[in-house]
Amino acid sequence: MDLSIKKNPINLKDFKNIAKSTLSKDIYDYLSGGAGDEITIYNNEEAYNKVMLCPRVLRGVENRNLSIELLSEQISMPICIAPTAFHCLANTEGELATVKAATKANIVMIVSMASTMSLEEIAKTAFDCSENSSPKLWFQMYLQPDIMITKVFAKRAEDAGYKALVVTADSPVFGHRERDIRNGFHKLPNGLSLRNFDDVGLIGTNGKKATLELSAHVTWKDIEILKSITKLPVFIKGIMCPEDAALAIQHGVDGIIVSNHGGRQLDTVPATIDVLSAIASTVDKRVPIIVDGGIRRGTDVLKALALGADAIAIGRPILWGLANNGEKGVSEVLKMLKHELDIAMALCGCSKIKEINKNLIY
Ligand code: FNR
Ligand code: LAC
Repeated sequence: MDLSIKKNPINLKDFKNIAKSTLSKDIYDYLSGGAGDEITIYNNEEAYNKVMLCPRVLRGVENRNLSIELLSEQISMPICIAPTAFHCLANTEGELATVKAATKANIVMIVSMASTMSLEEIAKTAFDCSENSSPKLWFQMYLQPDIMITKVFAKRAEDAGYKALVVTADSPVFGHRERDIRNGFHKLPNGLSLRNFDDVGLIGTNGKKATLELSAHVTWKDIEILKSITKLPVFIKGIMCPEDAALAIQHGVDGIIVSNHGGRQLDTVPATIDVLSAIASTVDKRVPIIVDGGIRRGTDVLKALALGADAIAIGRPILWGLANNGEKGVSEVLKMLKHELDIAMALCGCSKIKEINKNLIY
């Protein structure tokens, strides 16, 4: 790799290349790879390159404001951190480094249930480093086959100060990930564990030690149950068609995340940007929509907002930033994407996020 990139990364792809050259192959492959032939991973990014922008001129764009309101809170930009597992694989400080960068940037971080620091420690770190506004932490959960465990997590997240629950619905089973199979990457390295389970020694209703399980039993009924036991707003992550978006709203969800899990679950599903418009018309602004998958440029963010998203989320770029330089690396990734979005807005004639609409797409 060109040494000048390593010294001075200037875009998200540079961070990917640095991560590739510094992490061990099995860890880099787990973080960056996906299911099957990785057609969907490729499509997620490639589809953005096929969406063309229509710039508007002479609109007086000297004062630009990237902030938005999400769940009645002001956040600094429409860029969230998608939930990703095992941050300690990328950096020893793990999720604590990520959450410091997120909190200082005043953006939403969705913390994965499969974190390598406990949700309480992550929240404490966020509250300790927050200055003017409270941390915007949301908690991602896989609904557990044992409802008692799901309830415990909903309560723990609420008590720790999380502001929303995000149920990931695209994972009744684990995707078929061939890089991990070839690398024999089946468990966390020594010293790392699923701290949300291990730190508190969670015991299930069967009297046995509980650990994270994917559940093929869950249905929309479980979403109603979750809604009835928590005060927090509930988002569903993994919606890829208008029919499921409509069902989500029927079952009372407070928001939708259009996502194919970054191409890690079912391969050969479309790019998220290609299904976004149809989902946005069905949702018709009744609940907020976040989209993730393949967003690597400020222009990608602008395109997603133009096609109906209220905000976007990034997964892998955060892990690459974390691998490169901990909290500072994550902050740099966020800053770069924000800067690129700001330039894209100016060149499209937009001063506010609300001014970004479909007319900017050719
Ligand atoms: C993920 N993703 C994920 N999603 C989730 O709901 N819970 C999780 O624990 C994880 N874990 C996870 C680990 C790793 C290493 C990756 C790369 C992804 C999916 C994630 O939230 C998001 O949907 C994608 O990462 C978005 O795509 P990009 O931005 O990575 O292209
Ligand atoms: C992943 C899981 C943990 O994508 O969601 O690796």
